[in-house]
Amino acid sequence: SIQDKKKQVQAVVKTFPDFPKKGVDFVDYFSILYHPKETQLLNEIVIEAVDKHFADAGESPFNMVIGLETRGFFLGMVLSQHYNIPFVPIRKKGKLPGETECANYATEYEEKNAAEIQKDSINEDSKALIIDDLLATGGTLRMAYDLVEKCGAQVAASLVVFEICVLEGRKKLKDPSSCIAIYEY
Ligand code: PRP
Repeated sequence: SIQDKKKQVQAVVKTFPDFPKKGVDFVDYFSILYHPKETQLLNEIVIEAVDKHFADAGESPFNMVIGLETRGFFLGMVLSQHYNIPFVPIRKKGKLPGETECANYATEYEEKNAAEIQKDSINEDSKALIIDDLLATGGTLRMAYDLVEKCGAQVAASLVVFEICVLEGRKKLKDPSSCIAIYEY
């Protein structure tokens, strides 16, 4: 069952207290990728969660996957291949060639960041499923929603593997219920 799969994956997740700063409990997404079996199970869990979220939605509720640098790229690719829709990265500023849209943001442990998306990867018909490993203060995910809207596109939903609930990052989103979280910490 899905609960058994979730337990099996959670058993390999490592957390590191006081990394990268004192007071931050770092939930290490990469500890799952050390284990191919659990990585495969997580892929299945995530696809089931997305399908369930959109169970009552019409046809093709999303038509692109956006992965957030760095750890949103892995599951982003998995979903893009599963649904046969484009994978588009949002990267830290200065990394993407061509015309870009840019947004500023703050995260749990970095005050000032900027990120970009390539303009020709997204348009008014785009309905994005945004993927990241973790929702902490919500600064990063909020920035992604803002970037998508700046491009004239829509956010269909977002998905994170881990949500650090005490930080209430979800509240930064215009529609807090649009974010699917697999594990709540
Ligand atoms: C981490 C994490 C999320 C973000 C969450 O990424 O992977 O993207 O912080 O924090 P927030 O909810 O407070 O914004 P990081 O900025 O460390 O980038 P990286 O994945 O490239 O290391």
